[in-house]
Amino acid sequence: MKLSCLIEAQQLDVANIFFLFAKAEELRKKQERPLQGKILTTLFYEPSTRTRLSFESAMLRLGGGVISTENAKEFSSAIKGESLEDTARVVSKYCDIIVIRHYEEGSAKRVASVSSVPVINAGDGAGQHPTQALLDLYTIWREIGRIEHFTIALVGDLKYGRTVRSLCYLLGKFHGIKIIFVSPASLAIKEDIKDYLQRHSVGFEEETNFYKALPQADIIYMTRIQKERMQEGEYEMVKNRYSITSESLAFVRTDARVLHPLPHTEEISLPLDVEEKDPRIAYFREVENGLYIRMALIAHLLEK
Ligand code: CP
Repeated sequence: MKLSCLIEAQQLDVANIFFLFAKAEELRKKQERPLQGKILTTLFYEPSTRTRLSFESAMLRLGGGVISTENAKEFSSAIKGESLEDTARVVSKYCDIIVIRHYEEGSAKRVASVSSVPVINAGDGAGQHPTQALLDLYTIWREIGRIEHFTIALVGDLKYGRTVRSLCYLLGKFHGIKIIFVSPASLAIKEDIKDYLQRHSVGFEEETNFYKALPQADIIYMTRIQKERMQEGEYEMVKNRYSITSESLAFVRTDARVLHPLPHTEEISLPLDVEEKDPRIAYFREVENGLYIRMALIAHLLEK
């Protein structure tokens, strides 16, 4: 079914996912500029490097144009008290598609409810980041050749990390997947995700021992501790708990892959030459995949 917006990963079904993968493969091979005359707005109330720039690059590569606010929290009329809904109504008169990142969960849904153009959620607080999950799954498919029958270790901040939440919703659509959640007890995955996985018959276990999980996994998905979403003192209790280093990499199977949505801090600490030459380190290929999957999504939402 054709999508009109992408706010939550649950909206994507298996057919949508494979359609977008095929479109991304096509766009990777040949340059097409089908969106000449169309305009994309990036409305980012939180910092970003990859998501914002890859969406902007994707639109430009598709032949369209981009308008943006530099730090919407500070430099849009939000600072004068304008509501998110009013901003969305206004911006949707200037463009053909909106990509929004906001610090409040549910914000992208609010924007979509009043926008006259398609809306893409580029991260809403600790809620979801569906296009990151899509590019993560696309990377798994490209790296190991399947998105069924594999074991994935989701490691780090599973409480505040929105990419893990969206990825779980997508993993629930495929067969034979086992998830090992690796986190400190205080950053465990929330009950709503566990309920969803149980309803979709996805096997999972919770583990605090990183070294026990590493040899079992086909995919090790590392995440950053989301210090910016924590209460005073919370970060100090959980920092530096799990890290991919030369030592821990020895526990990773030779055919496994290490992914990370990035940016990373101490949870990845590898020499540059290992990052560049070891085929298990896949997170910079993951970054590139994000460009093509976002091109595919924009084209899908805007092409007649
Ligand atoms: N992965 C991700 O969302 O990165 P940015 O915060 O740089 O956009």
